Amino acid sequence: MKILILGHKGMLGSDLFLRLFVFHEVTGKDIEDLDIASEEACEGIISETEPDVVINAAAYTDVDGCEANREKCFSVNAEGVKNIALACEKRGIKVVHFSTDYVFDGRKSTPYLEEDVCNPINVYGQSKLAGEQYLQQYSSDFLLIRSAWLYGKNGKTIVDKAKINKQLEVVDDQVGAPTFSWDLTGAVQLLIEGKYNGIYHITNRGNCSWYEFARRIIKSAGINDVTVKPIKSDLLARPAKRPHYSVLSCRKFITSTGKAMRYWQVALDDYIRKMEY
Ligand SMILES: NC(=O)c1ccc[n+]([C@@H]2O[C@H](COP(=O)([O-])OP(=O)(O)OC[C@H]3O[C@@H](n4cnc5c(N)ncnc54)[C@H](OP(=O)(O)O)[C@@H]3O)[C@@H](O)[C@H]2O)c1
Repeated sequence: MKILILGHKGMLGSDLFLRLFVFHEVTGKDIEDLDIASEEACEGIISETEPDVVINAAAYTDVDGCEANREKCFSVNAEGVKNIALACEKRGIKVVHFSTDYVFDGRKSTPYLEEDVCNPINVYGQSKLAGEQYLQQYSSDFLLIRSAWLYGKNGKTIVDKAKINKQLEVVDDQVGAPTFSWDLTGAVQLLIEGKYNGIYHITNRGNCSWYEFARRIIKSAGINDVTVKPIKSDLLARPAKRPHYSVLSCRKFITSTGKAMRYWQVALDDYIRKMEY
């Protein structure tokens, strides 16, 4: 397949590029090649590349930054998706796009299903939901993959923070599913090659709080001189509110493909080993 990845230098985009270029003809573009908020730029790149599939991994992902930069956030995360969907639909190109657990408000206590009602509680989540709606409105062949708590090669981690601070304070009242970006790319490859479409929730298996995640990272990296203290979200006073519970049910992915993602602890240990922390 001929695949165009937008945002191929980001955390997920760079892993997608590495995973897919072995099997397919892959082109990558990022912010220095085009601004997805520009309709002309999207038209230009997509018509000149003529791919079978466009994967959009480009996004404005600074969750706190979105609160102060609402316009920019919507122009990339919502209008950008509309531009890509419109340019692809004209040419019969499939769109693969990513969204987030932050489209949910976190009031549930059991894993969110694909069809659960979205009710984002921060600007980032609102912009990602608007992007989802544009995609569903303007594309007749799309894969919309919601994931959560991504970490990977090109991201900053608690290990980096622990190298600077000897005591970390981490919230224990937000529960989700940490997801290794490389694992997500394997699931994406499966869905693209299997010609699936529609909405899928994909994360590593199991769930934990950020506090439990941090403790596991420190342990797995063999760091012994750092303590992790649990705190409540209210104490952090960050600009964007986060849902208290945003675990996504991956049942649809499992029943559709017959494959399950690894447990988050196994994926994390693998990541730490690969990064040689
Ligand atoms: N990270 C998570 O925890 C998480 C969780 C759930 C879902 N997701 C979703 O997964 C996708 C990938 O996230 P990620 O964490 O890999 O993001 P990322 O590391 O921030 O990568 C995004 C890439 O897009 C580029 N970009 C930003 N604005 C652009 C624009 N207007 N036009 C073209 N390129 C632009 C960025 O360039 P700059 O770096 O120069 O801005 C960056 O290279 C996003 O849709 C995100 O919403 C992420």
